[in-house]
Amino acid sequence: MDQSSLNSLLKPKSVAVVGASSQPGKIGYTVIENLIKGGYKGKLYPINPTATEILSLPVVPSVTALPEAVDLAVITVPVKLVAQVVEECGQKGIKALSVITSGFSEVGRKDLEDQMLEIARRYGMCVLGPNIVGTLSNSDELNASFAPFLPFPGKATLITQSGALLIAMDAITYTRKVGFDKMISIGNMADVDFADLITWLDTDPNTSCICLYIEGFKDGRKFIEASRKTKKPIIALKAGVSAHGAAAAASHTGSLAGAVKVYGAAFQQAGVVQASDLNNLFDRTLALSLQPPLRKENLLIITNGGGVGVLATDAAERYGIPLKFAPADVQEELKKHMPAFGSAKNPVDLTGMAGNDWYYESVKFAYAHPWTDGLVVLYCETAMTNPLEIAQAIKKAIDETGVKDHPVVVSMVGGTRCDQAMQWLVENGIPAYPAPDEAMNGMAALREYNNIRQMIADDGDGCDPTGSKISREIIAKARADGRGSLTEIEAKQVFSAYGLPVTETNLSKSEDEAVTLAKKTGFPIVMKVVSPDIIHKSDAGGVKVNIKDEAGVRSAYQTILKNCKAYKADADIRGIAVQEMAPLGTEVIVGSINDPTFGPTVMFGLGGIFVEVLKDVTFRVAPVNKQQVSQMVGEIRSVAILAGARGEAPRDRAALEDLICRYATMVYDLRDEVAETDANPVLVYEEGKGLKVVDARVILKKK
Ligand code: COA
Repeated sequence: MDQSSLNSLLKPKSVAVVGASSQPGKIGYTVIENLIKGGYKGKLYPINPTATEILSLPVVPSVTALPEAVDLAVITVPVKLVAQVVEECGQKGIKALSVITSGFSEVGRKDLEDQMLEIARRYGMCVLGPNIVGTLSNSDELNASFAPFLPFPGKATLITQSGALLIAMDAITYTRKVGFDKMISIGNMADVDFADLITWLDTDPNTSCICLYIEGFKDGRKFIEASRKTKKPIIALKAGVSAHGAAAAASHTGSLAGAVKVYGAAFQQAGVVQASDLNNLFDRTLALSLQPPLRKENLLIITNGGGVGVLATDAAERYGIPLKFAPADVQEELKKHMPAFGSAKNPVDLTGMAGNDWYYESVKFAYAHPWTDGLVVLYCETAMTNPLEIAQAIKKAIDETGVKDHPVVVSMVGGTRCDQAMQWLVENGIPAYPAPDEAMNGMAALREYNNIRQMIADDGDGCDPTGSKISREIIAKARADGRGSLTEIEAKQVFSAYGLPVTETNLSKSEDEAVTLAKKTGFPIVMKVVSPDIIHKSDAGGVKVNIKDEAGVRSAYQTILKNCKAYKADADIRGIAVQEMAPLGTEVIVGSINDPTFGPTVMFGLGGIFVEVLKDVTFRVAPVNKQQVSQMVGEIRSVAILAGARGEAPRDRAALEDLICRYATMVYDLRDEVAETDANPVLVYEEGKGLKVVDARVILKKK
């Protein structure tokens, strides 16, 4: 996307509204009215074939009759007229289009959307929408939308896929006092998408935080790339997190992948902080748009009420924020600003006797002290204090320290006087919340932002794709055979080609051959049916383990054949695999899906009940570097098992991380061919003793 065309879209020097109307209540009327009411200072041209004047502005009869090639055309004509209007805009030399009109791909008319886009591209115009509310910008005094007013001013910018939500959030900015500079409705994203806007907003001096409402991406990887490069905090609320991609899964990994997990992984890799719901989005946006990140762990709470202090402490624990006591010298100094029955621990309780001075002195000292990395100031309304004066004392104290790189958030718990005081704080750059847990949520977002950016800061090394040629030959043979998946032996050959340690497995076509192979492999061995028609081999009675001698091989061979024929009479049985029996180890699962939005995505979890019952698994969009793998392994809930629970020796985590890294490289390298894979189980041994992939599954993409 040519970023200069986004300047025309978002900071237009001239605007035409094509489909402007003189009839109040019509969208074409409201957009003109909003542009006037919003105070737009550029040239404004209503276009309508019959009207002569709309809201005292002279009307231009058609796009072609415009006296100049405007920067932006806002289109509010019905869908059947859009293509013609876009053609005229192109001929006129207009640079950007904001298409409010509905009736395109959202109702199954992708053909109309493609037609519009084709015309726009031919003339080099960018298109926002279609199916949008429009764009709003306080700093440009631009309300090119049918949302009723510009948002409560501030430094966040919203990009939303839901137009209705834009209008609702616009109104909420006033009740919640969370300030926004811009609100952009992105609609069907025929052309301009999240990534394009994020890149543009990164250099917008009026945006300090990018706030997203997302239903789904067209190109997930483009979003990750753009977000990673951004220097500003991005916060995302993802809607529609149920039943995504899991529906038609043929692999274990596929059945465990849901939008929450895959989008969650992508947000992490993109350095994007997440919000859990709309309230949470506002709380977090407020902090992220006004305060620097919490870079280290020393967070101090100052309060005039024990109760709100405890609530904030509980919230800190919920958000994973550690709280510790300040050093003795800090406590000693703080004690000077409270009665004898106050507490200088953490929370610092100034008691209900605290007035403006104690707040001022304690905040100033604590905020300036090198021990303090961040401050949460709480206040309960009392009869002896004036909330606005307390707010002003806090702000004065903060300003006088000259410290700029430590975050501070405030909660003022009380009535309308507190509301007014908090509005004053927000207007003066300090996030303020009516409840202590909301303030702590804001601080948690500042901490998460810091941590997530640090995690992605080091790109680290990935693994080389070594096995491409051999694997593609194996896959081509399977396809020529009319198969949609590889046999276990083929899957292991592919894994092995990418350097994954697999158990030695050979195919026998007769009982005698099975005996010869078993002797070559060395007892004990495992025998398994090889059939493209039997994916779940154990269910079919197609697996025998711990076979210790020749007689056992012969008996297993016959039993497996008998069982599998009984399970599926017409199953195409290619033979019986004779496999090295790996010694017992800690079971883990590694797998992949080819996600519709993000492409190849790798999964890791502990095996057994951890994956079956607890679904304790984690995902990353592939490929992954070694640092990302290390985070991935570290974030499963049952990670302690790998460190050696109940007196067991620690497992070989280095070998495990190497395996996941290679695995992700493999599935990324083969992304055009492979749909889903499982290495399940992988047995991980003691430190230094490596691991073995015991079973392998590769499902091919349908072509
Ligand atoms: N150039 C300029 N104006 C033109 C025109 C042209 N070539 N052809 C027609 N017009 C004028 C019409 O004369 C009319 O003005 P009038 O009121 O003076 O007659 C105006 O454009 C609008 O056309 P109209 O047929 O009255 O449509 P409408 O106002 O009822 O609806 C939309 C138009 C775009 C608002 C409607 O089709 C739509 O898509 N609504 C949904 C919008 C939405 O919800 N967006 C997403 C939210 S998430």
